[in-house]
Amino acid sequence: MSGTYQFVVVANRLPVDAAEDGGWTRSPGGLVTAVHPIVRRLGGAWVGWTGGADEEAEPFDFDGMHLHPVGLSARDIDRFYEGQSNATIWPLFHDAVEQPVHHREWREAYEAVNRRFADATAALAAEGATVWVHDYQLMLVPAMLREHRPDLRIGFFLHIPFPPVELFMQLPRRADLLRGLLGADLVGFQRPLAAQNFLQLTERLLGLSPKEDRVEVDGRTVTARAFPISIDVDEIEELANDPEVREQARHLRQELGDRRLLLGVDRLDYTKGIEQRLKAFHELLRDGTVTNEEAVLVQVATPSRLRVAQYQQLRDRVELEVGRINGEFGDVGRAPVHYLFQSRDRAELVAMYLAADVMVVSPLRDGMNLVAKEYVAARVDDGGALVLSEFTGAAAELDESFLVNPHDVEDLKRGMCAALAASPQDLAGRMRTMRAVVHEHTVDRWAKEFLDALADVS
Ligand code: ADP
Ligand code: G6P
Repeated sequence: MSGTYQFVVVANRLPVDAAEDGGWTRSPGGLVTAVHPIVRRLGGAWVGWTGGADEEAEPFDFDGMHLHPVGLSARDIDRFYEGQSNATIWPLFHDAVEQPVHHREWREAYEAVNRRFADATAALAAEGATVWVHDYQLMLVPAMLREHRPDLRIGFFLHIPFPPVELFMQLPRRADLLRGLLGADLVGFQRPLAAQNFLQLTERLLGLSPKEDRVEVDGRTVTARAFPISIDVDEIEELANDPEVREQARHLRQELGDRRLLLGVDRLDYTKGIEQRLKAFHELLRDGTVTNEEAVLVQVATPSRLRVAQYQQLRDRVELEVGRINGEFGDVGRAPVHYLFQSRDRAELVAMYLAADVMVVSPLRDGMNLVAKEYVAARVDDGGALVLSEFTGAAAELDESFLVNPHDVEDLKRGMCAALAASPQDLAGRMRTMRAVVHEHTVDRWAKEFLDALADVS
C-alpha cells in the first residue's frame, strides 16, 4: 500500500506537542528546532508522537505540513520512550556518562513501536518517495520500511553522538540495531568519527567489507557520512534585531544591576554538564575570583524526561547545589544563581543571549549543541563570549570560543575566567569569525547537502 506524499519525515516527536488547553506548543529539543523549518519550507508529511499517552490522535495539517501522529500508550511511553530510548540508548551513546540500564521488555517495546512508525510511514509515502528518518529512538525503522517498500529512497540522520566501537558492543541485540540502520541508503552523523565507528562495526559485527564511506549489504550500497547540523540563522538574527527583544535584553540587564552575566540554557539533562558548571561557579565564588557583587549566573533548565530516574536525581542534585551557592554567597535581593526550571519562548531566549556577557555551554558529551550556535547567531553586535566544551560537535566549527574540558573543573574555571577577562576587541574578533561560520553553515544548507547526497546515492 502506498500513499501520496513525496517527502516524509519520521521522528519520535512531531514538531508540536499537545498542550493541556487543547492547543499545540513547540516540542522541546534540537531535532525539532532544526528539522521544523526545513519541512515547513519543503512541505510534506511528518510522522511522530504527540508527546502524550494518546493512541487515538487523528492526522492534521499544521503550518504547511501534514502531521501524522503515531499513538503511544502509557506502557509504550514507559518502555519504548523512557526505557529503551532514554535510559538505555541515550546514556550509552553519550559515552555512558550515566550508567545505561538494560531490560528485555524495553527492547521488545522498542521493536514494536519502531514497527508502528514504519507501517504508518509505508502507508503515507508515495511510490518512489524520499523518506527521512531521524534519531536514536527509530534506528530499526529504515530496515523495517525497506522490507515493505523497496521503492523508497531512505535517509537516516543521527542527531546524537555515535559511540566508539567498544561501547556499542555492550548493547544487547547490537547487530539488530546496525541492520536497522543499514536499511537506509544514506546514514548521516554529526561528526566524521561517528561515521567511521559505524562502518567499522559493520565489519566487526556483520562481517561486511566497508570501503571509504560505503558498505555493500544485500546487493545494495549504503553510504555513511558526516553532515553537521545547524540552525535557522535568519530566524535568530531577526529576533536579535527586533526592537522589542532588544528592549527585553536591556531590561534584563537592568534587573541584574551592573554585574557580569553568565548564562546557561539547556534541557535539564546529565549530558549537559550543568552540575560541572555550577561547581565551577561555586568554586570561583569560594576562591574570591568573582564575587556576588560582580557576577551572576542565570541557568535556564527546560524540564525534560521527568519520569526517568536519572533525570529526577539530576534535578535534585542541581537544585541542592543552587541552594547551597545562594545560601552561602547570596544576599537579600541579590542571589548569585538564578535558576529557572522552565521553558522560555524563542524571543525571550534571544533576549537572554543578547544580555549575556558569557554563555557557558559545558556538555560532557553532545552531538552538536544548537544553543552554542544560536548564541553566536544572536550576537549581531559582535559582543559576548562563548565558553564551549570540547566534547560538543559544535566545538569543531566554533574554535574561536573559549574551549574547555568540563570533566576538569579547573579547566572550566580557567575558561570562564578567560572569557570574563578578555578585552572587547579580542571578543569582537572571535565573535565575528564565529558568526561567519554559522552564516556559512545554516540548517538549510545542512538539509540540502543531506537530501542532495541521498538523491545521488540511491
Ligand atoms: P538538545 O537537542 O539536546 O536539547 P541543543 O542545544 O542542540 O540540545 O538544542 C536545544 C534547543 O532547545 C535549542 O534550539 C534551544 O534554543 C532550545 N531550548 C533549550 N532550552 C530551552 C528553554 N528553556 N526554553 C525554550 N527553548 C529551549
Ligand atoms: C535531543 C534528541 C531529540 C529529542 C530532544 C528532546 O535533541 O536528539 O531526538 O527529541 O532531545 O528530547 P525529548 O525526549 O523530549 O524528545
